Amino acid sequence: MSRSMEGKIVLVAGGSVGIGLAAAELFAQAGANVVIAARGVERGQEAEREIRRRGGNAVYMQADVSKAAEVKELVDRIVETFGRLDHALNNAAVSGKLARTAEFSEEDFDAEVKANLKSVWLCMKYELEQMQKQSPQGGAIVNTSSVNGLGGAPMAALYAMSKAGILTLTKSAAQEYAAAGVRINALVAGAFDTDLLRSAVTQMLDGDSVRIAQTFESFKARIPAGRIGNPVEAAEAAVWLCSDAASYVTGHSMIVDGGLTSWAR
Ligand SMILES: NC(=O)c1ccc[n+]([C@@H]2O[C@H](COP(=O)([O-])OP(=O)(O)OC[C@H]3O[C@@H](n4cnc5c(N)ncnc54)[C@H](OP(=O)(O)O)[C@@H]3O)[C@@H](O)[C@H]2O)c1
Repeated sequence: MSRSMEGKIVLVAGGSVGIGLAAAELFAQAGANVVIAARGVERGQEAEREIRRRGGNAVYMQADVSKAAEVKELVDRIVETFGRLDHALNNAAVSGKLARTAEFSEEDFDAEVKANLKSVWLCMKYELEQMQKQSPQGGAIVNTSSVNGLGGAPMAALYAMSKAGILTLTKSAAQEYAAAGVRINALVAGAFDTDLLRSAVTQMLDGDSVRIAQTFESFKARIPAGRIGNPVEAAEAAVWLCSDAASYVTGHSMIVDGGLTSWAR
């Protein structure tokens, strides 16, 4: 089965930095036309330039994927430009507010769900509509979840809850759309060296650089692989799940965490 993405049209929602950018680069290296969606224009355009500099095909399209109208417009634009949508990595998220469960406000709850759960559902909604009506029908979708969505996370209950929701959205939709030729899987990420992880730890420790360094050391000590992951290592799994090499894989939660949660599985 082929790992080639030659000529495939791929959306990476949240593709301007971190794991999403690493995936966009891998999709492009494998021959895909990649659409990078994110809110921030500067980082999005830089991601597009970087991929093109390396000989890949990428285009940045601005979108806030927590807003239905913007996701619909994004998918419409992709189809107008390329004629179809083959694969999507729904990866956009923010680190969110950190607090104990009872200390969050109702506004915090709604904001977290909008940014990190509704955004994934909205992406799936418009991607699935397109993948069902195109000819040939079908496609592959990967939604980025987190090990926090498996085991919860102190001070991050709302983030963990959103990431758990992504897992059941993924499994439900995988069962519904398999007959239409759409495979839907989740990437369950452990700790990866990105802006999101750094901003969560910085927020938790009020920017105290000594304690931040200690926290990263204690993360490493808990990870059997002995290190924080490189975003490319998460991206590789997402690209494989989209590829034809994973043609019989759907409804799967693929844990990529250097063994962090292996004891609990
Ligand atoms: N890093 C980790 O250790 C880790 C661990 C577990 C799970 N994850 C998950 O992996 C995914 C990627 O994380 P990362 O660490 O690579 O994060 P990151 O470096 O902060 O990148 C997040 C990307 O999402 C975009 N984004 C955020 N909200 C968006 C929105 N509403 N609409 C469109 N784009 C949006 C960001 O661009 P703009 O801000 O410009 O929109 C950026 O391109 C996330 O789903 C995260 O929860 C990460």
